[in-house]
Amino acid sequence: MITCSAPGKIYLFGEHAVVYGENAICCAVDLRTRVQVELDESVSISIESVLGKTGIDLDIHPYVSAVIKRMREFASIEGVSIKIDSDIPVGSGVGSSAAVTVATIAALNRMFDCNLTLEEIAKLGHEVEIQVQGAASPTDTYVSTMGGVVMIPQRKKLKNIDCGIVIGNTNVFSSTKELVANVAKLRESYPQIIGPVLSAIGSMSEIGEELVNNSDYAAVGNLMNINHGLLDSIGVGSIELSSLVYAARNSGAFGAKITGAGGGGCMVALMDKAKTEAVAGAIDAAGGSSIITNATEHGIIMESNS
Ligand code: MEV
Repeated sequence: MITCSAPGKIYLFGEHAVVYGENAICCAVDLRTRVQVELDESVSISIESVLGKTGIDLDIHPYVSAVIKRMREFASIEGVSIKIDSDIPVGSGVGSSAAVTVATIAALNRMFDCNLTLEEIAKLGHEVEIQVQGAASPTDTYVSTMGGVVMIPQRKKLKNIDCGIVIGNTNVFSSTKELVANVAKLRESYPQIIGPVLSAIGSMSEIGEELVNNSDYAAVGNLMNINHGLLDSIGVGSIELSSLVYAARNSGAFGAKITGAGGGGCMVALMDKAKTEAVAGAIDAAGGSSIITNATEHGIIMESNS
């Protein structure tokens, strides 16, 4: 039996803009998805999660099913029972799909001796996300595989974040595929306006790199606030997201913004560690579900191999 886990992530800057080649800075967080794989002759493939127990099923378990289909191109994956357990809220912009994808690849890679490197796992994970979602940047799968704070597309590791991080879930479902398509339409309709907005978002990561490396979280927070406004301007905000963002700022966060595709899903705030409880309480009082977390250096981890 082999268990691998992979982390979720937050965007400090750059979601949506990264789809157009702009810079983004992402940070792996200590919320993990664990995938346990076990040889089991009584089944062909069994996949079990909170969503149910299925065989290969592209509706209920699209990412794990797509991983198996792809890996069968070079490995005889058969007679395996897969169990998924996750701390990451599903479909809410914190990277649950990337984490389950790369953790599954890593566990099957070990069980079937495929010898994929971490770079190859991240690349395969990205291909699976594109296949399932229609479009995806390599950001989520890369950061979940490697951990740490990463500047994309350069894949440059920055200094780890050492301050309080609180995620606020609006509990409103949003579709990354639809939101990415909406931004594409807006960009086509108003190229002179949306182009510069996306470039300005990209510039935040360029400025943010030095601020992160200097641990200047107050300045990082200021830029996050500006990034939130720009995300709102390209139509991926919502009243629920902004309520949680303002609640976090008003309770002492350095800054707060949407994280991920937006539309619903989650926001993230950075704060002095002493203020995490206050910010989390304010997010809950504003109707969200807070999650207090930390940055993590650890990407894919082999949790057990017996
Ligand atoms: C989704 O987590 C982030 C987006 O930038 C899409 C992507 O990068 O694939 C909205």
